Amino acid sequence: MARDTCYAMQEAHRMVDIITTPCENLCREDCQRIARETRENFANHINKGFLEYRKSVTEANDFAVTEWVCKGSILRDILGREYIDILGGYGIYSPGIRHPKIVAAVKAQLDRSPQYSQEMLDPLRAHLAKVLAFLTPGDIQYGFFANSGTEAVEGAMKLAKLHTGKNGFIAMLKGFHGKTLGALSLMGKSVFRAPLLPLLGGVRHVPFGDADAVEKQLAAAKAVGDDIAAVVAEPIQGEAGAIVPPDDFWPRLREICDHYAVLLIADEVQTGLGRTGKIFGVDHWDVAPDIMCLGKAMGGGVVPMSAFLSTPKIWACLEPNPFMHTTTTGGNPLACAAALAHIGVMLEEDLPRQAAEKGAYVLAKLRELQELYPHILQQVRGKGLLIGMEFPTDQTGYQVASGLFSRKVITAGTLTNAKNIRIEPALNIPYKILDEVLNRLEDTFKSIA
Ligand SMILES: Cc1ncc(COP(=O)(O)O)c(C=O)c1O
Repeated sequence: MARDTCYAMQEAHRMVDIITTPCENLCREDCQRIARETRENFANHINKGFLEYRKSVTEANDFAVTEWVCKGSILRDILGREYIDILGGYGIYSPGIRHPKIVAAVKAQLDRSPQYSQEMLDPLRAHLAKVLAFLTPGDIQYGFFANSGTEAVEGAMKLAKLHTGKNGFIAMLKGFHGKTLGALSLMGKSVFRAPLLPLLGGVRHVPFGDADAVEKQLAAAKAVGDDIAAVVAEPIQGEAGAIVPPDDFWPRLREICDHYAVLLIADEVQTGLGRTGKIFGVDHWDVAPDIMCLGKAMGGGVVPMSAFLSTPKIWACLEPNPFMHTTTTGGNPLACAAALAHIGVMLEEDLPRQAAEKGAYVLAKLRELQELYPHILQQVRGKGLLIGMEFPTDQTGYQVASGLFSRKVITAGTLTNAKNIRIEPALNIPYKILDEVLNRLEDTFKSIA
């Protein structure tokens, strides 16, 4: 594009004017223009490819469904169309969208200081690390904060290598840990890895839930003199479709890692902070990992936030040179205010308990639907409000996802990736809304059958 700073300034001002205008003062033509331009801007400046995958474009009869005002479990587009959100931004919105206490904390901090000086000591970051030390299992006491889940995993991998002086990792088939190069090396799916090989050396993959396979790999690595720094797994695999491991998996991982002097990393980016019906996924099995990664919901769905956390013994390797791992914006005061407020809300509203109870309710209803429509809904699984529905093919899954979309319910599921669809709504979603979703789901199944 030809450089045009004047136009760039006008366009920047125009959007800021729009977002500072109360919604009710935008006329229908303004709203339609925003919807039209957003689609064009995605095509011309983000990635045309996305438009073929988003139901908000492919399934919209006229204007692309363009996100505008959202609250709790309801998403409203610029043209005023309302959708029930059971995707939860893939797990960001555990306390619901724009929880008032989290928004208030962030606004208050915004008026004080939005980022940090990098020289003075910042109280919120230190306080958040202390709060997390009291929330996490085992001896976890120290934390490093970043902005995304993949950064948390990168940090955890570096910490494991630095502490053990070893190189390799054992990760899980179908596992998902993010898409930066280190985290991608752990990924258990070829589609995102293969085009970028070679990635980090020394990573081996085993079937999720198979502790014997982990042990065999560790024994083999030891026999041939390869060194393994850590075993990395999600407590419950999220992206793979809410796959719950056998009950002895995590306790056995703990024993095996201790036996081979290898660290155990729990990637709780998706399962952490209440999602599965306990504060952390590993709490289902009373296991204390050596390193824990958090992300997604950590910033309360208001500010991006992630962390990797560990014990004083392991953290000691970062002390001689605390600049060994840094990021300029990670753990900034807005993110820390959001995370602190979110932890308060999670405990006060007992979001883990709500997730456990509502998850059991939804799973039971889905199992009833599975009995009625076994050719459509083949499997239902999960824990808490991390629930997976499995369909016979991507095509059937997409019929369900698009059927729900046309009934104003937002889920994941694209044309080419809909065999497994996750349900991960806000943990405080009212039963009334859940019932409405289940009715619309049954209606969708009926129309497909
Ligand atoms: C378990 C797990 N780890 C890491 C990540 C990466 O997080 P982000 O997309 O914030 O980088 C994800 C994202 O889905 C995840 O589910």
